Amino acid sequence: MVSILSCIVIGLASQQARIARAQDVITSDDYFYGQSPPVYPSPNGTGLGNWADAYIKARNFVSQLTLEEKVNLTGGVSETSTSCSGSIAAIPRLNFPGMCLSDAGNGVRSTDFVSGWPSGLSVGASWNRDLAHARAAGMTSEFRRKGVNIALGPVVGPLGRVAMGGRNWEVGFSNDPYLCGALAYETVVGMQSTGVTASVKHYIANEQETNRNPEASVGAVSSNVDDKTMHELYLWPFQDAILAGAGNIMCSYNRLNNSHGCANSKSLNGILKTELGFQGFVVSDWGAQHAGVATAQAGLDMVMPRGSAFWGNNLTLAVKNGSLSETRVDDMTTRRIIAMWYQFGQDDAFPEPGVGMPSELSSPHEVVIGTNSSYKRVLFDGAVEGHVLLKNKDNALPLKTPRIVSLFGYSAKAPDRYTTDENIGNEALAPEDISIMETKSNIISQYASNGTIISGGGSGANQFPYMSSPFEALSQRAYEDGSFLYWDFHSSNPTVNAQSDACIVDGNVYATEGQDRPGLHDDFTDGLILNVASVCANTIVVFQNAGVRLVDQFIDHPNVTALIFGHVPGQDSGRALISILYGDSNPSGKLPYSVPKNESDYAGLDTPDQPEGIFVKFPQSNFSEGVYIDYRALDAKNITPRYEFGFGLSYTTFSFSDIKTTLSNSSTAAYPTQPIAVGGQKDLWDILATVTATVTNIGEITGAEVAQLYVGIPGGPARQLRGFEKATIQPGASVTVSFSLTRRDLSTWDVVAQKWLLQRGTYEIHVGSSSRNLPLTTTLQL
Ligand code: NOJ
Repeated sequence: MVSILSCIVIGLASQQARIARAQDVITSDDYFYGQSPPVYPSPNGTGLGNWADAYIKARNFVSQLTLEEKVNLTGGVSETSTSCSGSIAAIPRLNFPGMCLSDAGNGVRSTDFVSGWPSGLSVGASWNRDLAHARAAGMTSEFRRKGVNIALGPVVGPLGRVAMGGRNWEVGFSNDPYLCGALAYETVVGMQSTGVTASVKHYIANEQETNRNPEASVGAVSSNVDDKTMHELYLWPFQDAILAGAGNIMCSYNRLNNSHGCANSKSLNGILKTELGFQGFVVSDWGAQHAGVATAQAGLDMVMPRGSAFWGNNLTLAVKNGSLSETRVDDMTTRRIIAMWYQFGQDDAFPEPGVGMPSELSSPHEVVIGTNSSYKRVLFDGAVEGHVLLKNKDNALPLKTPRIVSLFGYSAKAPDRYTTDENIGNEALAPEDISIMETKSNIISQYASNGTIISGGGSGANQFPYMSSPFEALSQRAYEDGSFLYWDFHSSNPTVNAQSDACIVDGNVYATEGQDRPGLHDDFTDGLILNVASVCANTIVVFQNAGVRLVDQFIDHPNVTALIFGHVPGQDSGRALISILYGDSNPSGKLPYSVPKNESDYAGLDTPDQPEGIFVKFPQSNFSEGVYIDYRALDAKNITPRYEFGFGLSYTTFSFSDIKTTLSNSSTAAYPTQPIAVGGQKDLWDILATVTATVTNIGEITGAEVAQLYVGIPGGPARQLRGFEKATIQPGASVTVSFSLTRRDLSTWDVVAQKWLLQRGTYEIHVGSSSRNLPLTTTLQL
């Protein structure tokens, strides 16, 4: 009865997906009907590429294990002495110390003496590969000192399909797959250079928090994604991370085409372990396993937080009674989990698992210092470069030795006390806060009224040794300059000294794991900005924002002279902001997403999908827009955003000239022909063309410009980002930027051939400073 019912439901889901497809020519492949095709058996890892030695060592190690010992490696155990998010038990007779897995992608969670790093969204806004690499290496050197084998990040899913997504800030980098993938690549390489394994998560199409997990009467949301969109959008950054050598992938809570993320044989066996040649292991998100043998056969290799519910003794039993072949367990352990351990040298002088992660921080414990003063510059630069200057009327910024500065808004001050990682910056509200807010529900996740945010909330939230708030950093500046400060962090209609040389209004945009945001702007902060601007002629608006923030409610007010999106800067937030406001740093961040004028410009992709109608128990989220999210959608519909993808101002000005394209000698056959290597077919990375251009600093001061290259692939979106280079340029000087276009960069996914197809034809090439300011144009003939 149950299976008949589920067939009917899946049938209805297919029906709905077909309707969506029929109305939308974008998703034209034939196998997407909201169902996931079966792909069995689970492919064995073979030790491809530079995994060969690790596989040999792992085979030798696992040959000494009993079945029970092998099974113990596939699931977490309850561990009370450390705060590791998950623990694999030791095997003392073979000197295997066990493993510690710990959150997350923005720094070590739940311990002391570690840093609060700029979050992924800030890295995305920096458009800086070197910085992404340096941040990742600095961050995981802290994980290593604390005895963490696997750092649970970076996040490249969500990609950011839904503007109100609760986790878009986490390590999302950008909702453009190319930018996200390029920064994920550097992050994985940087992280793993310290011997700590990156867990790239959440695989895949984990685009909303709403209904991410099954509840009593409602299933987990099914992201229904067609094959073409899957490859060209959501898989793209995962592919880059695997190409970079990522040792671990975390499968997600949501269902994908109606099959659970950790039981989806198409995505795990088919795409990840076959097409992408992934040699590491797949770990479940915490509690994302909903079946035993079926998940093993679908390609899951390790269960967290405990192996006991479906696996553990049941997995041993399944092998003994013939339901599951021991080869699959051998593949989980020999070829994947233990190979990963050898691959990153964790058998050699790696700190004891969880050594710096005591479970009770408030009790006396031996302190293991994770921080290192050599990362100070990276932490600061990461905070600065994540700031994007969006408006600067009549050069209001940088401030010119102001005498009176007024500061308003709850996000200018530190929260009243050190907040835990679950609710950073958004702890219980004081009664006076409540009285000035419209409704309490308007507050939760909309903004953190109790103080500034340096990260979002949930498992990716920062632990930090200190917090530099905007107020504290401004006070220090006033001390140095002899200027005078006024402030009010509470009132929505504060008393404003009209003689202020500058009035800074600081709001935040809070987001957290577990829930999507209730809106893209809030009335309290919009009202505060307008009230200050009604008195103060030089009103400078700043947000610390864990996601996109609409600004049309105030941006055209003549007294709003400047706007900065600070994103989620980590522990040096205030210090970074003040250095930009006073011109000690020249802003160089660019938007890693578009800022539309209105919610309606998103055509439904502002909000998460909700369970409804006949799907109320089996929520469906049809990705029927295909690859047309963010700027791809706005360009296709000819909608002018307030600020376009890739936009960001500097205190200097750049010009672009001399575009040139050069074709290489690489084959331009329709399909790649080389065998699968780690990351996919090898010749996907052949460089087919190089584009160069000259960028000149025509202003008065040194600054960094992000030159961006967009390609119009025949039949696809008008423009897609396919290159970027950030260059620091002295006034009057020029640099040549160079963009390499690979076979994959110029291809589309062919759903029939199941390969990347390089079309013959004319490719439009544009270079400039944002997705809509592209002064250089040429074509590439293939
Ligand atoms: C659930 C989150 O989705 C995941 O990102 C995190 O790593 C695990 N919990 C462990 O805390």
